[in-house]
Amino acid sequence: MPEKVLIIKGHIVDPSQGIDGIGSILIEKGMIKGLFLSNEFEGGSIHMRIIDAKGALVLPGLVDMHAHLREPGYEHKETIQTGTFAALRGGFTALCPMPNTNPVNDNATVTSFIIRKAFQEGYCKVYPIGAITKGQKGTELAEMALMYEAGAVAFSDDGRPVMNSLVMRRALEYSKVLDVPIISHAEDLTLSEGGVMNEGIISSSLGLRGIPRVAEDIMVARDIALAKITGGRLHIAHVSTSGSVELIRRAKQEGVKVTAETCPHYFTLTEDAVLGYNTNAKVNPPLRTSEDILAIKEGLRDGTIDVIATDHAPHHRDEKMLDFDNAPFGISGFETALSLSLELVREDVLTLNDLVTKLSLNPSNIMRISSGTLKVDSDADITIVDPHRKYKLTEEYIYSKGKNTPLLNNELTGKILYTITKGRIYCHEPA
Ligand code: DOR
Repeated sequence: MPEKVLIIKGHIVDPSQGIDGIGSILIEKGMIKGLFLSNEFEGGSIHMRIIDAKGALVLPGLVDMHAHLREPGYEHKETIQTGTFAALRGGFTALCPMPNTNPVNDNATVTSFIIRKAFQEGYCKVYPIGAITKGQKGTELAEMALMYEAGAVAFSDDGRPVMNSLVMRRALEYSKVLDVPIISHAEDLTLSEGGVMNEGIISSSLGLRGIPRVAEDIMVARDIALAKITGGRLHIAHVSTSGSVELIRRAKQEGVKVTAETCPHYFTLTEDAVLGYNTNAKVNPPLRTSEDILAIKEGLRDGTIDVIATDHAPHHRDEKMLDFDNAPFGISGFETALSLSLELVREDVLTLNDLVTKLSLNPSNIMRISSGTLKVDSDADITIVDPHRKYKLTEEYIYSKGKNTPLLNNELTGKILYTITKGRIYCHEPA
């Protein structure tokens, strides 16, 4: 790692300091040591590495608060090493892996294992999410305090809902004591059981069992009600329906402590992507309708939805080769998230400042991790992206073991040039 690095001529967007303009950033020993707007710093010396970011956006490193790294237990799908490298390629400098590993991350030993392994082999910062219940079975609370002490930053049974309302109530009460978020995978299993795609005309015509939108809405409503009586910090994962957006909007207006995320596939793709029984478009919650996309975009625009997270869910090729009913749910998302999200700026749904807030600052604040800023003396976690450059998303382009995305072979716009973590520079296209 060079001692000093100077990033020059880039368009710096840092919502944490209200910065949106051309400037330079000086990195020394892995830390940001200067941020100079316009020509304040002409800079540079032969002892520095200079990165010319002309025409590119220079952003605080992206933070993914919802990802699946699969290790321990499902290393054929992804490992901490391959997953964190794929994240880096997607511009993420920090991520939070969900606990649905094998064994489940429901105790301090697994939490510590993930942190240690990520420290040894990881390419970006990793902050694990512990399970709410033992084995994610939904019946008995896991040792949340011990996992918290070991480094877990939030709790979730993601992949499965906590169906038992009393257990969810207790989890939210506990979260208040620890002051950490409880992340709700909102799905009423009695309504969704056996479903494999959105319930509607397309599911009927394909002869596939549907998952109604109300399966999500009901649990969002329940969890908001529980957050209200407990005062716990509730975060709704992967919002996919207009109903959820409206419930969260109203809860926020009432002052309930609720935050929410959606994922790029929920504002980019509809259930049409499933046509042809494309298992790469099988995801939970399922891809919905164009009305839902409109509502999600409005929720992002008006601040109802705080965060864009990937829900990066890599699966092995052979698993996705199964028939639609039996293939696992999930879309590989690290390496497409920023391109898809930049579309929101191109469509005038979000300003650049708002986009970066949702991809970096807000997830850092919700998870209380020290990322999401370009302030002097913070770690040099920086993403540099050319927002106009186009590329074809091929299997070869995707570094993650999971090539399972319905966007394969599409042309995407917005290419990451550099991801810098703690001053360590990863150049996506070596000169
Ligand atoms: O599609 C999904 N895949 N949704 C989830 O909630 C879990 C995830 C996984 O772990 O594969």
